[in-house]
Amino acid sequence: MSQSKRCTVIVGSQWGDEGKGKIVDVLAESVDVVARYQGGANAGHTVHVGSDEFVLHQIPSGILHPARRCLLGNGVVFDPFQFFEELDALAARGIDAEPRVGVSGRAHLLLAYHKMLDRAAEARRGAGKIGTTGRGIGPAYEDKVARQGIRVADLRDPARMEDLLGRAAERVNERLGAFGSDEQVDLHALCDEVLSIRERLLALSVDTGRVLHDALRAGERVLLEGAQGALLDVDHGTYPYVTSSNTTAGGAALGVGIGPTAIDAVVGVVKAYTTRVGEGPLPTEFPSPMQEHVRQLGGEFGATTGRPRRCGWFDAVVVRYAARVNGLTGLAMTKLDVLDTLPELKIAVGYRAGGALLDDFPGDLGLLEEAEPVYESLPGWEKSTADARRWADLPDAAQAYLRRIEALTEVPIQYVSVGTRRDQIIHVQHG
Ligand code: IMP
Ligand code: MG
Repeated sequence: MSQSKRCTVIVGSQWGDEGKGKIVDVLAESVDVVARYQGGANAGHTVHVGSDEFVLHQIPSGILHPARRCLLGNGVVFDPFQFFEELDALAARGIDAEPRVGVSGRAHLLLAYHKMLDRAAEARRGAGKIGTTGRGIGPAYEDKVARQGIRVADLRDPARMEDLLGRAAERVNERLGAFGSDEQVDLHALCDEVLSIRERLLALSVDTGRVLHDALRAGERVLLEGAQGALLDVDHGTYPYVTSSNTTAGGAALGVGIGPTAIDAVVGVVKAYTTRVGEGPLPTEFPSPMQEHVRQLGGEFGATTGRPRRCGWFDAVVVRYAARVNGLTGLAMTKLDVLDTLPELKIAVGYRAGGALLDDFPGDLGLLEEAEPVYESLPGWEKSTADARRWADLPDAAQAYLRRIEALTEVPIQYVSVGTRRDQIIHVQHG
């Protein structure tokens, strides 16, 4: 990362699972603080360090670098039990992360009852289900916006905490009953559970906006880590098949408590093809058996739920749109090596829908559902890229594929990842 870029946002620029964990891990090398700004334990970041594989859900991926400060911003829905489980698992592998983490006092708690509501709501939706991760994300954000959430700072006063939990239990039990769920919240057990982590959590509570403001003033470098992807953004994604937060770069400033003028760069992470997990439109989705073939090549199974991911060709309509709504200054392309054996590659450059040719991603779900991609074909390279460490090491056809994506999206590719290991990355020099 160049010296002048002090505050960089990393955003997924497709439907999540672009490999942000790996890119954050690489970029964290040259920053002082990493902060997550939205989402919760629905994220699944897989990071490989040496022969170890780590899957993190709640803790920012930057944690694997010693000495990096890691923050969870106010925009996160915070599952304290998941969080401490991850901290303890890291500690068991010799990574003492607790002294380096901070959680916003303004972050909303995500508790077991949010997961019950998530499951009950999905069951109720039947065929119209969203395919959520079941981690309670939607119900936790609903509570926040309805002004009935419980924030980390609310634990400071035990009487206030018990009052809020009591009201939540009453409300939730009513709703679970209405959903026909046989689950109910036991208030005593709930209070005991939250009490058991109260002090440990309060000790980590900070004002993330203040910490980041001070860090930037002191000349430190900051990475704001997004979860999910632009097409899952509650405003800009394929609504209602989205998550319940603003995953895009605008959400970064909001979700940690700094102003947008503090941000210098926005790096969009994209996979060399497209995947999506859960329901909703995916215009370039492969037919069978190509679907299963690429899923196997790319190991495309969800890190959080284990669900098979849906796979398709690279969609330049999607990434051009993501570039615009995020204000991308650069792209990081991951999993290029997964395409190594394919003889021919396609890139969607437009859609046919509603009797017209669209060159922009439509907001209308009906149009998206009928969208037929217009493809360009490029030759594959049919060689391994796994050992490429410089641009010049890439086969000509791979260079041409990447150059075409840059031209279509109008964003320079800054990083190309060619494998899961930390060293399998190309830093692209732009003359
Ligand atoms: P929720 O975030 O669990 O409510 O799920 C809403 C939608 O976002 C579903 O389609 C999920 O599969 C998808 N989703 C949520 N988190 C992730 C993620 O980290 N990667 C990919 N898809 C995700
Ligand atoms: Mg993931």
